[in-house]
Amino acid sequence: MLVLGIETSCDETAAALYDTRDGLLGHALHSQVDMHQAYGGVVPELASRDHIRRLVPLIEAARQQAGVSLQQLDAIAYTRGPGLAGALLVGAGVASALGMALGKPLIGVHHLEGHLLSPLLSAQPPDFPFLALLVSGGHTMLLDVQDFGRYTLLGETVDDAAGEAFDKSAKLLGLGYPGGPELARLAATGNPRAFDLPRPKMHSPDLDFSFAGLKTAVLTRVRALGAEAGGQHRADLAAAAQDAITDVLVHKTLRAQQATGRNAVVVAGGVGANRQLRAKLSAALPQRGVRLFFPELQWCGDNGAMIALAGAMRLQHHPDSAHAAGAFDVLPRWDLTQLGPPPQPGG
Ligand code: KG4
Ligand code: ZN
Repeated sequence: MLVLGIETSCDETAAALYDTRDGLLGHALHSQVDMHQAYGGVVPELASRDHIRRLVPLIEAARQQAGVSLQQLDAIAYTRGPGLAGALLVGAGVASALGMALGKPLIGVHHLEGHLLSPLLSAQPPDFPFLALLVSGGHTMLLDVQDFGRYTLLGETVDDAAGEAFDKSAKLLGLGYPGGPELARLAATGNPRAFDLPRPKMHSPDLDFSFAGLKTAVLTRVRALGAEAGGQHRADLAAAAQDAITDVLVHKTLRAQQATGRNAVVVAGGVGANRQLRAKLSAALPQRGVRLFFPELQWCGDNGAMIALAGAMRLQHHPDSAHAAGAFDVLPRWDLTQLGPPPQPGG
């Protein structure tokens, strides 16, 4: 089964072709970060317009790389949500137009299911069931993944997402957007113990997260430093912020592993690229006999491969979840745990 995947939920435009027998055949991606950098964050209207310009050439590039014709497709998968409404509409609209022209069915994919399944693109993929830590710019969740499509939410952030905590701390330190990778880079030269930052909710018995207080703490330290908030102090503060965020993420993941007894843990989403997070989890989980799975770095952030894969798997498990081209909608807010039987556009 050959599926084209289209991703336009936020600030990456991406397309990929995934075959259920041969795996990933081709992929292409354009990141808009340079464009949004000047504004310190994603500007939704600019994102939509750029998706319109980029998407069709990216689909063609992925197709060429795969060496197939679009007529060979079995379905076209697009990110239906969650995400920016206007950005999602570009992907859904192009998918629908292509589907109509080619006479192919569409399949609307949940963006977070794409992230969740992204480790399955690796040479050594995890088996179901597993515990998942999903950490992106908009979400921070611990999920018990019993099987494909069966996701139980164990805990999530009550305010900022982990990626937001990275991005906001980075902004306070005068770093560019997106702040996560930049903060991590600066942190590498800092001493995390130079500042004592809070680890909100780390010892609470639940599996929820809270990062808003951390951002405030970073702000307070930056203000206290005043003109001195440069040089080594800045690197130390970056290191302390990263240390606090990853401490909380690791602590809660260990707690969730104990609560569920799952012997495999998957870490997915943009923050999953963070080296310190990977190192701390790698130091803690294998010694408990728990296998740890990370997506390849190129599939941590938003990409088309995870959407093509999730679409193909959905089609295999629930063939009735495909719908005819022509009618489509997007779901800017969409609960991952309610995926169950596929919702139909207009239904
Ligand atoms: O999954 P993703 O690409 O997009 C969303 O769906 O949100 O995640 C983007 C987030 C941003 O907040 C970015 O700063 C963060 O992932 N991020 C990182 C790193 N790379 C990306 N955070 C910490 N360390 C990194 N190396
Ligand atoms: Zn994402």
